[in-house]
Amino acid sequence: MNKNLHPVLETKGLCKTYDDNGKRLSILKNIDLRIMPGEFVAIVGSSGSGKSTLLHCLGGLDLIDSGSVWVDGENLFELKEKDRTIFRNQKLGFVYQFHHLLAEFSALENVSMPLRIRRLDTTEVNSKALQILEEMGLKDRASHLPSQLSGGERQRVAIARAIVSEPVCLLADEPTGNLDDTTAKMVIDHLLKLIANKNIAVVIVTHDMDIASRCDRILHLKNGQIFEK
Ligand SMILES: Nc1ncnc2c1ncn2[C@@H]1O[C@H](COP(=O)(O)OP(=O)(O)OP(=O)(O)O)[C@@H](O)[C@H]1O
Ligand SMILES: [Mg+2]
Repeated sequence: MNKNLHPVLETKGLCKTYDDNGKRLSILKNIDLRIMPGEFVAIVGSSGSGKSTLLHCLGGLDLIDSGSVWVDGENLFELKEKDRTIFRNQKLGFVYQFHHLLAEFSALENVSMPLRIRRLDTTEVNSKALQILEEMGLKDRASHLPSQLSGGERQRVAIARAIVSEPVCLLADEPTGNLDDTTAKMVIDHLLKLIANKNIAVVIVTHDMDIASRCDRILHLKNGQIFEK
């Protein structure tokens, strides 16, 4: 069977609660989700509806109460914690509202980092990181420190870093939440261009309906459940 027909991300009956002073807060209730290769999917919902919690569970950054999360055919929570971390770093990319770039390192060094950690050849790493920066329209910003970049440029570097190791899926939690509308649109334009030929799926949490409307699907999170309209 063609491997591309398998979901890159799937949840079955995912439930997540938090402890609120001895009381169980039910945040995610029986979520069934399938994300296919190359899909661009928005998650929308009011503040506190559990969007970030869902993304954390999808990425194995937070534990779940019951159900399962499958990434590229692997049951994430059946892996030992250490193996889960390695697997996650191989298969998924993360982008947040605030860039979390390393302040003392240049744009190029930040983007190279995920590959350097894997001890790949330095020349190869640098040329790959430069290529991604170029695709993000940042070729002439490669040597800039994060403090020498604009907000939109920083987010583009953060996206480049999340994608340089070619994950099957990018999980983005309000990556443009901190930017004005025009800059946000430009960042998404670059993101779409970058993933276009790579078959990388994107799950993006956003409050921006312009961005959501550009997605293949919009998932609404409400009362702990997902609705697709
Ligand atoms: N570690 C925690 N312990 C207890 N409750 C938590 C914890 N993290 C989140 N919550 C609660 O879970 C609910 C969902 O939070 P979450 O951060 O997922 O919402 P969100 O949809 O991302 O909101 P926003 O749009 O404001 O970012 C909130 O009511 C929050 O108070
Ligand atoms: Mg959130």
